[in-house]
Amino acid sequence: MLPGAPHLARQGGELCLEGHALSALARQFGTPLYVYSRQAMRDAAQQYQRALQGRRHLVCYAMKANSNLAVLQTFAQAGCGFDIVSGGELLRVLAAGADPAKVVFSGVGKTRAEMQQALLAAVRCFNVESIPELDRLNEVALSLGRTAPVSLRVNPDVDAGTHPYISTGLKGNKFGIAHDQALATYRHAATLAGLKVVGIDCHIGSQITQLAPFLDALDRVLDLVEAVEAAGITIEHVDVGGGLGIAYQAEVPPDAGQMVQQVLARLDQRGHGHRELLLEPGRSLVGNAGVLLTEVQYLKPAEAKNFCIVDAAMNDLMRPALYQAWMGVEACTLRDGPASVYDVVGPVCESSDWLARDRELQVLPGDVLAILSAGAYSMTMAGNYNSRSRPAEVMVDGDQVHLVRERDEPASLFAGEHLINR
Ligand code: LLP
Repeated sequence: MLPGAPHLARQGGELCLEGHALSALARQFGTPLYVYSRQAMRDAAQQYQRALQGRRHLVCYAMKANSNLAVLQTFAQAGCGFDIVSGGELLRVLAAGADPAKVVFSGVGKTRAEMQQALLAAVRCFNVESIPELDRLNEVALSLGRTAPVSLRVNPDVDAGTHPYISTGLKGNKFGIAHDQALATYRHAATLAGLKVVGIDCHIGSQITQLAPFLDALDRVLDLVEAVEAAGITIEHVDVGGGLGIAYQAEVPPDAGQMVQQVLARLDQRGHGHRELLLEPGRSLVGNAGVLLTEVQYLKPAEAKNFCIVDAAMNDLMRPALYQAWMGVEACTLRDGPASVYDVVGPVCESSDWLARDRELQVLPGDVLAILSAGAYSMTMAGNYNSRSRPAEVMVDGDQVHLVRERDEPASLFAGEHLINR
């Protein structure tokens, strides 16, 4: 069994996901190819839901982590709601069959058009991050003759101890309403006729591997709930955001069950056990459910380094280039022979185009590598740089294999472009 990925295992020399040999899937569908385990996603959702049993709750999958329609469908069927951040995500999640009454709309820069779209769809709640956003939402709601349910995203000013690019709960971040302005902002919201205050939320960052930051943030949020209710404004739900980390390498993050238990215990201790609890997990629901398969093209020994040049690149998987993220690499079929240390790199014309550095691999051209823990923030962050088609996506589910997204047709990449007629 590989770190954090219970459905990924070697059978004989073959790396398999839910029993399906990945090298065979690579041959069948071509590379680069994302492959996801549906059972791994269901199990991850269950971990949250089991711990929440008997409590009023909603697990809103943060779909920015992986927004393939079949992934959304899987979570909708598992009873989850969704955390969205754009009109595009709203369209997608409705296309997957989600119930808008289970959708919360986050994000620091919602446009008028997005507000309108979400009000007409009747989403459950807007997570609002500033006074100007409250004012705009109020205007849009009044113009449509609707009332917008709002939660204020507060910035609890705790250090999540994670990468600076994915840390969001500190004072210097663009996110949320400062703790010391939150009460005044709630008072302002309560004066606006187009809004109805329903909740409070926070999100302190991503890939957090300790429990303490979540509990510290919750304490700060509950302090505010008490102050806001003392001012006569009712708060129905508390949304603790997402952020629980996964094992990429040697991390040992708490499991979702532990995290939820501790959050519930703290709510109870502080006399808030009656409130509905919302969570917005992304990575911990999908990260370890997926791999990216890529074929070795060339081995290029160089003076300082050996390069293993593969057919996936930074446009397919941006996390290493953007965050210097470490992602596991495994040969799909084990072979004998001496291992060498390689940087695994793509064909894109950038030095930042690498997927893994200094890895010991026994490989030859034509072999297939699996980049592990690529279920979250991988395909959703893919692009078409160098006019490269984004990968296809496959979902395995027991003995079934489903192609859930086709590889970009090369000509589709310029289908919306126009030559100038002169
Ligand atoms: N809620 C809000 C408001 C968020 O901004 C996020 C993630 C989540 C929930 C879900 O957080 P999670 O449970 O996945 O940690 N691209 C980066 C991660 C960016 C996270 C952005 N916000 C990466 O590849 O590491």
